[in-house]
Amino acid sequence: MNAAPVIDLQRLKSADPDTIRAMREGLSGLGLVYVSNHGVDLERVRRLYDAFCEVLERPEAEKATWGGADIWYQRGWTPPNTEQAVVADGQPDFKECFFATPTSPDPDCERWFPQLFAKNVWPADAPHFRSELLCVGVAVHEVGLDLLRGCARSLELPQHAFTKLVEGAANLTRLLRYLPLTEEQIESDLLWGEEHTDFNLLTLLPGGAFFHDGQRTTERPGGCGLRLRTRPTAEHPLGEQVAGRPPPGCLVAQVGQQLEILTGGEFVATPHEITPPNKPGWSRCSLAHFVHVHPLRRLFPLMPFHASADEYAPPVLASTYAVKTLVDIGLAPSEALNALGYRHYARLEDIRRVERKNG
Ligand SMILES: [Fe+2]
Repeated sequence: MNAAPVIDLQRLKSADPDTIRAMREGLSGLGLVYVSNHGVDLERVRRLYDAFCEVLERPEAEKATWGGADIWYQRGWTPPNTEQAVVADGQPDFKECFFATPTSPDPDCERWFPQLFAKNVWPADAPHFRSELLCVGVAVHEVGLDLLRGCARSLELPQHAFTKLVEGAANLTRLLRYLPLTEEQIESDLLWGEEHTDFNLLTLLPGGAFFHDGQRTTERPGGCGLRLRTRPTAEHPLGEQVAGRPPPGCLVAQVGQQLEILTGGEFVATPHEITPPNKPGWSRCSLAHFVHVHPLRRLFPLMPFHASADEYAPPVLASTYAVKTLVDIGLAPSEALNALGYRHYARLEDIRRVERKNG
């Protein structure tokens, strides 16, 4: 399937059989659906982009105090050229971002995973930016939960099969600004977002906005957009890249790696990239909300999908999966993997040190 279906959220919530069938087809085929009748105020999202651009005007030294490497950039500002797509020799993404969690975290996880569960950080004197980001984040997260209940229904699972995995997780709303290219960069093969799959459960995208000469505009430069790779076929063993453009007013909902694993590949995390405009000077703001599995849940095909267990073995904790991914994409240091609960070596070292000292 090379086209994504439009899912009317209210019909999905009322368990309309045609909508449920379309949901399953979309997430099994291209790994993506467009969502209409979702109740998110998209004009409010656009105004949030204006507020975002305003705070990004602040000096770099100030922006660097909003989060940073100590919390693996999981809250606050991610500078340009920091994050990479997970591909060999991947180029850093040409964007700057801001992360916040709009949902209530599990208090144990705040202690056990201090970076994944860092407290939100905010620019000083920007209460409007803060409240709008949280409001939009909550609204989009609610859509995500409705869609996950629809996903479960479409797979004939109990309605809460996925939403119960999400409670207390570090669900993240991210604002992104893709940076304007220069004339020389237009000639290069630079991408706004290199081909990757999202590592979370479900990603919600309420649509971006272009900026030119510092002003938001409804004009759209040529060349740019989302490109999705279809599943492999005999004719296209590497899949085929197709354009993904939602109908006006729709959100995009996209399968992440965690949902692919839990469904044993029935739903697919589709590789996607973002191509830049073919003109210099245009930037684009967008918002992505990442629904995550709680860090103490296991990532492995759920019982009805055990036929695919070998493909996704061995099972792994969602927290381990997250840390490994953040190391791979350049946000967490590789030592983070050595700190996943191992303390016995250090304990033995301490004993030996005392023994040596005591002769
Ligand atoms: Fe993505």
